[in-house]
Amino acid sequence: MGPRTSFYIETFGCQMNERDSETISALLAEEGLEPTPHPETADIIILNTCAVRESAEAKVWSRLGKLHALSRENEPVFVLAGCMAQLPETLERIKKKVPYVKVVSGPGNIHRIPELAKKARSDEKRRLFAAVSPPRSGVARDESTQILPEGLPRKNIPGVSAFVTIMYGCDNFCSYCIVPYVRGPQVSRLPEDVIRESRDLVERGYKEITLLGQNVNAFGLDFGAPGQERLGFAGLLRELNRIQGLYRIRYFTSHPRDFTKEMVDAVAACEKVCEHFHLPVQSGSDRILRAMNRGYSKGQYLDLASYIRETVPGASITTDIIVGFPGETEEDFQETLDVVRRVRFDGAFTFIFSPRKGTAAAKMKGQILRSEKSERLQRLVDVQSEITLERNKAMVGERVEVLVEERDQKDPDVWRGRTRTNKMVLCEGDPGSSLLGCLVEVEVREAGLWYLKGQVKRVLVN
Ligand code: SAH
Ligand code: SF4
Ligand code: F3S
Repeated sequence: MGPRTSFYIETFGCQMNERDSETISALLAEEGLEPTPHPETADIIILNTCAVRESAEAKVWSRLGKLHALSRENEPVFVLAGCMAQLPETLERIKKKVPYVKVVSGPGNIHRIPELAKKARSDEKRRLFAAVSPPRSGVARDESTQILPEGLPRKNIPGVSAFVTIMYGCDNFCSYCIVPYVRGPQVSRLPEDVIRESRDLVERGYKEITLLGQNVNAFGLDFGAPGQERLGFAGLLRELNRIQGLYRIRYFTSHPRDFTKEMVDAVAACEKVCEHFHLPVQSGSDRILRAMNRGYSKGQYLDLASYIRETVPGASITTDIIVGFPGETEEDFQETLDVVRRVRFDGAFTFIFSPRKGTAAAKMKGQILRSEKSERLQRLVDVQSEITLERNKAMVGERVEVLVEERDQKDPDVWRGRTRTNKMVLCEGDPGSSLLGCLVEVEVREAGLWYLKGQVKRVLVN
């Protein structure tokens, strides 16, 4: 018997893609293929890609070139999966310039990768096999859904924290964003399927789940058929909160427009739901927020943040911000800085606006110079970093609950985990004893921008 066919996979972009890569790996493993960490000897190389910004795409093309160079002797089949696969320009470029990519598969078609890769490997004509969903043209709901079949396998390894997709796609069409085009319309999974998957994970030993969707607060709003239970996001949280053996529930991403006070109350009432709110504000200027099609004003966002602070004491609030949206003036940018200073975010992912072909914002007048955008980004990062550091330093001396996820790569006596508020903690425990998967109480001794450091005081749950 010859050696087994091996595959190597690299994932770009958000948690959705990480979750999808788990399914791709599991499907290939079910077919008898062997995962390998060595691209140079792999028979199949899969890149699960992201299209959210130009830089994300550039990274994929450059990586593809490098992987091709180092695996050339082996002539692997390259698979380009994920969000970039849905862009017509990607397919054109592959046909013209990247002949070694033999399979292209959009996010709604990843379950077909094993079959297509197999075909490509044995195809004498060396054709390109593509499985992509029909393009979504307008700013409206359509029937070109990109949902995956229920019951697909996932990587069968014991772990601490797992992702659970609760909805596919997005209907928001924020004017800068490519995601609704590459991921298709919003479709929620049935609550019972989500609950069953979560229970399964807990039985396999997972202590934390993260519910995934582009707009989790809108969970269930797309259930249309009569008789279909309309369990919204708050209801789903309450159901999941009853699962015995589950310790933490997170969710990602929420949209400020759909984050109702009822949902904040549900978070406060459900002891397993973590006190962390990731609420992408994008901009603090009402004019820009309107042009972005976000559906809330600066005032509404600030109200929501205050309600969270009152209702869930000790909660962390993080955000995403885009600078240099078309037409953004210095005054608009000052409004953004004002939100940052008023909310005092625990952290922010900050981005330079990247025009994406096919989106409304790419065609808008008043595109900002690259140098101007970079300069604003730097000022924003400076303001936010100072706040993040202050907030983290204020935690020195506190005792926090940490779920230990892994051993530190540099120091084997140090464990890495996260607080309920999603701060990374480097914990020092008793040398020699394993804390993997434990919930521990840690006294914070030191704080930086990206981490806290502390001493394990006691093990809460083994
Ligand atoms: N569904 C999530 C966002 C997914 S994309 C939400 O609505 O919050 C993650 C982040 O990328 C967005 O929040 C936004 O800040 C940023 N982003 C999206 N499109 C972008 C673009 N064209 N240029 C720059 N940043 C962008
Ligand atoms: Fe993009 Fe807006 Fe949908 Fe988020 S909510 S994925 S930013 S369109
Ligand atoms: Fe990127 Fe697709 Fe996620 S575009 S951010 S990988 S949904």
